[in-house]
Amino acid sequence: MLRKALKACLSILVVLLAEKYRPKRLEDVQGHDSVKQRLRRWIEAWLKGKKQKPILLYGKIGIGKSSLAYALANEYKLDAIVVSPSQACDASHIKNLMPKVHMRRNLWGQLPIIIFDDIQALSGQQDRGAIPAVIQLIKESQIPILLTAEDPWDPKLRDLREKVELVQMRKLSSRQVLAIIKRIAASEHIKISDEALKQIAEASDGDARAAINDLQVESVGYRERQNDIFATLRTIFKTTSLKSSVAKIRSSDTDLDTIKMWLDENIAKEYEKGGEVAKAFDYLSRADVFEGRIHSRQYWGFLRYVALLVAAVSVAKKEPYHKYTKYTYPQYIKEMFKTVMLRRKIKEVCAKIGRRLHLSPGEVWDDFPIYGRVVLSDKEKAKAFYRLGDDELEFIESLIKAEAALSSGQRRSGRRF
Ligand SMILES: Nc1ncnc2c1ncn2[C@@H]1O[C@H](COP(=O)(O)OP(=O)(O)OP(=O)(O)O)[C@@H](O)[C@H]1O
Ligand SMILES: [Mg+2]
Repeated sequence: MLRKALKACLSILVVLLAEKYRPKRLEDVQGHDSVKQRLRRWIEAWLKGKKQKPILLYGKIGIGKSSLAYALANEYKLDAIVVSPSQACDASHIKNLMPKVHMRRNLWGQLPIIIFDDIQALSGQQDRGAIPAVIQLIKESQIPILLTAEDPWDPKLRDLREKVELVQMRKLSSRQVLAIIKRIAASEHIKISDEALKQIAEASDGDARAAINDLQVESVGYRERQNDIFATLRTIFKTTSLKSSVAKIRSSDTDLDTIKMWLDENIAKEYEKGGEVAKAFDYLSRADVFEGRIHSRQYWGFLRYVALLVAAVSVAKKEPYHKYTKYTYPQYIKEMFKTVMLRRKIKEVCAKIGRRLHLSPGEVWDDFPIYGRVVLSDKEKAKAFYRLGDDELEFIESLIKAEAALSSGQRRSGRRF
């Protein structure tokens, strides 16, 4: 159960498609051609040793401001030091940046760039003194500084505005958003009609992040799958024909594992005679055995038998029951719903770790057993370095334990996810 739930967390929500497909290079960023050109000229001048005014990229949310800044740093192999509002950063943090930057420059030999991502949020109540510190840094610094903001005419940014070159990024057209989500749908093999993609793009109002999130929700295809699984259950439970059950399983969009779990949950609700229930469970457990063999021997030919044994649940009964049964969700799905909070927490923790290591939360999660153990190896240091609280460290510990239990379970059963 837990294994399934964790796996589902991982594949559905922790790996946000918007993060996974964050542009790596300028050419991956849809639109904004003149802005890209400006940024190229700006950074190439810096690389030739010509000091340039910092650039403040501004425009509506989800159009690629941060993406453009990161892609520039990545493409020109700059050593990016990112300051973002989630770091709860104050004046002293900003003042301490320069010595750190110099040290890193000596160490890596790369041109550093400081990216103040979402400078408006940085200027909030909590971070009093942050903006004057940024202005001071701009005056003294000899390295490229890139800033992003939604609205540079925010009065809090008045003094800063004069010290930077304002570069506007226009709202994306729905055609551009469509191009972004189309590409993602194709590489994720998401089955979705062109019409549905168009609707998402139009509803996004130029916010690519929102559109990608919508696409992700669609890809989970929650409602359709629900209908599909209920129809599959009805066929298996209400007929005594092996042939129709096999056919239904084959044509179903729901994978066999999920069908098995639903059957497992509902057999005892549908069948009333003890013998039938036992027989039905027996078929399911034999299906499990064959599945285990598929994984351990990589012999996919057995898949047929698995489907057949699952379908055999329909012949465990003598007669169909002419009654209405309210089929219920498998326990693991209930668990998953309960874990929305868990998933959010995983993301937060991974974001904190990733921020320090210049990794996306998804990348941290991919190798969580490694990063988690590194963090736990020196908790005090980790608290300060990653800005993790005691509860978060405890949480990491519990995840690592769960992971260890899962991987030993996997070894025992010879199965993979
Ligand atoms: N122009 C674009 N081309 C390709 N992908 C984009 C573009 N704009 C946004 N995205 C996608 O949307 C996600 C969010 O974009 P990004 O963080 O760059 O937006 P932003 O303008 O900085 O928004 P915010 O104002 O909320 O910080 C990215 O990870 C990327 O997947
Ligand atoms: Mg941003």
